[in-house]
Amino acid sequence: MSPLGAPWPLSLVILLGMGVASERIDCPSRCSCRYLGVNCTGQQLQEFPAAIPLDTRQLILAANNVSYLPAVELSFLADLVYLDCRKNLLGDDLDFTFIGLAKLVYLDLSFNNLTQVTFSTFSHLLSLVVLKIADNPNLVAIEKDAFANNTWLRHLDVSRTGLTFLDTSTVQDLPNLRFLGLSDNLWHCNCSFLDFITWMTESNVRFPDAANITCYTPAGLRALKMSAAEAQLRFDCLTQLHKQDYIFLCLIGFCIFFAGVVAAWLAGICAVIYKVHTSKGEEEAEYKDT
Ligand SMILES: *[C@@H]1O[C@H](CO)[C@@H](O)[C@H](O)[C@H]1NC(C)=O
Ligand SMILES: *[C@@H]1O[C@H](CO)[C@@H](O)[C@H](O)[C@H]1NC(C)=O
Ligand SMILES: *[C@@H]1O[C@H](CO)[C@@H](O)[C@H](O)[C@H]1NC(C)=O
Ligand SMILES: *[C@@H]1O[C@H](CO)[C@@H](O)[C@H](O)[C@H]1NC(C)=O
Repeated sequence: MSPLGAPWPLSLVILLGMGVASERIDCPSRCSCRYLGVNCTGQQLQEFPAAIPLDTRQLILAANNVSYLPAVELSFLADLVYLDCRKNLLGDDLDFTFIGLAKLVYLDLSFNNLTQVTFSTFSHLLSLVVLKIADNPNLVAIEKDAFANNTWLRHLDVSRTGLTFLDTSTVQDLPNLRFLGLSDNLWHCNCSFLDFITWMTESNVRFPDAANITCYTPAGLRALKMSAAEAQLRFDCLTQLHKQDYIFLCLIGFCIFFAGVVAAWLAGICAVIYKVHTSKGEEEAEYKDT
């Protein structure tokens, strides 16, 4: 029930000010509103609620059935700092959805149906500090530069997704990153992933639940934790010679052989010239003596 409907003294309503009063009127149905905050948790909403007060800072839509976030309506909420959409049906394409939310600091999209993250998904969130995209089982790809613009990112969680690979450059250039959730993914531990593991051991980022960060493929490394996988990968990747290495070695060998032949040939010519020269000198000397 809105406070204006209650039999409050007129003076109190005036004291509270029209700003607060109009906000209470504006509260979307099935949501509860308090100062600069709107909470619609667990209301079986199918759609993004209409008529959210424009000065809202905190919006909680957790545990609903929302499958689409309208970029335009979101961009009206230019002061939004905190957006919680965990446990919804958001999926497919979130690119350019958060285009107007430059002040957003906290974004929770865990337990949804995200499939991919590209540069355009979060690149407009220039203030983002916490990003939770864990528990999205269909999330299979995060583009290399997906977080290139999120330089304030401190907490990133991609646990329990469908990710098999994460390029080192996706996270290593985030200067403020302190927490990175990676557990219970089906990591593909190939030689490129060795780079990532090396970065993990050298960075001062915290990796929670480290016992559950394991390789899934190749079969030979299955269930190995990162430290064990690192040793194995170091052996496999750094001592292994590739086809181009063999070609290179053959080329070097041939060059050395060829250089040797040329050197021997030149030495031979020099020797002959020297011999001819000295014998000529001797002949001349003999001639002079007689
Ligand atoms: C999740 O996304 C996939 C791929 O876009 C789709 O096939 C599937 O139906 C979605 N699941 C739900 C529960 O919406
Ligand atoms: C990303 O950051 C760069 C440099 O800060 C900025 O020029 C660019 O507009 C940002 N991109 C987006 C999509 O906001
Ligand atoms: C490792 O796997 C990833 C993902 O499957 C792939 O993009 C990358 O090229 C692979 N690297 C090597 C060296 O095979
Ligand atoms: C780690 O993985 C095991 C086995 O899959 C699971 O039982 C356990 O709950 C996981 N730990 C955490 C903290 O998720």
